[in-house]
Amino acid sequence: MPNLQVSSPTSEQTRHRVIQLELEAGLLADKAYTSPKYFYDTVGSVLFEAICVLPEYYPTRTEASILTKHLSEMAHVIGSGGTLIDLGAGNCAKAAHLFPMLHPDQYVPIDISVNHLSDAVQRLQQRFPHIEMTALGIDFSQDWCLPDEVRSEKRIFFYPGSSIGNFEPDIARNFLKKLRSSCDGGGILIGIDLIKDQAILNAAYDDELGVTAAFNLNVLRHINRQLGSDFDIREWKHFAMFNAERSRVEMHLEAITETTVHWQHEHRRFMRGERIHTENSYKYTLPAFLALLESAGFNNARSWTDKDNWFAVVYAHAN
Ligand code: TRP
Repeated sequence: MPNLQVSSPTSEQTRHRVIQLELEAGLLADKAYTSPKYFYDTVGSVLFEAICVLPEYYPTRTEASILTKHLSEMAHVIGSGGTLIDLGAGNCAKAAHLFPMLHPDQYVPIDISVNHLSDAVQRLQQRFPHIEMTALGIDFSQDWCLPDEVRSEKRIFFYPGSSIGNFEPDIARNFLKKLRSSCDGGGILIGIDLIKDQAILNAAYDDELGVTAAFNLNVLRHINRQLGSDFDIREWKHFAMFNAERSRVEMHLEAITETTVHWQHEHRRFMRGERIHTENSYKYTLPAFLALLESAGFNNARSWTDKDNWFAVVYAHAN
């Protein structure tokens, strides 16, 4: 049986109150925003898996093709054994591809969506009974640390999907520094979405079928549950666009009509066309990203890309 922990010492009640205060601060801000972590409730996690197989959403399959094509070379650079720590593991499918080559001694999948994670890890443990598995429910947007169960010799952080792009660049650097300081002779294997033609970027975040729109709108259902608010999903639409100046795709929810949202003793009026900012996805050039890794203390980076240079997978050592 894999080990499963929700690593938070605070009580459920305190945690819920913190969530409510955080959501409220975002909704009452001059430019309303929500934290991207609210995407990943049970429905959101399944919708994100659907996004990953959409024809427009090239990152997942491009990254997978890079990993498949260069895995033996990567394994040679990384070496075998150690602890593979999967940041934002989701259904653990990406890491499972690495096992036959990297042979980790321990696998530590981490995700904010614990229910989704625990089902996936239980299935995976049956396929790979000899790998010790410790699943953790951690929210990276809060202060976090790894529990003692995570072995400390040669930690390899696996951070695929260009999720690092969801942090502001400064925060990304601090996050990478924190990983670096707990690598213990290991390193980081990370996926990066590269700057490309804007039409391709825009389509990836606004697919024809509307799955991405549903994923973005689902945040309002999650907020309604957490806060007891009365968002009417039909009054909102998905909006995503590449902001070239800031090198990021911005995701928003836009009010189709003037509307007022109520919760507890508060309310917020939105004008028609007013937006709630739900996420950014920063895109890097490979040299800019390698410089970021270096500024966080990593070195000897090796990178692999696809034929179009749409995506890169980088391995960098911690010392
Ligand atoms: N981490 C993913 C990304 O930046 C998340 C994502 C994909 C996303 N599509 C989205 C977030 C649409 C909000 C809306 O690519």
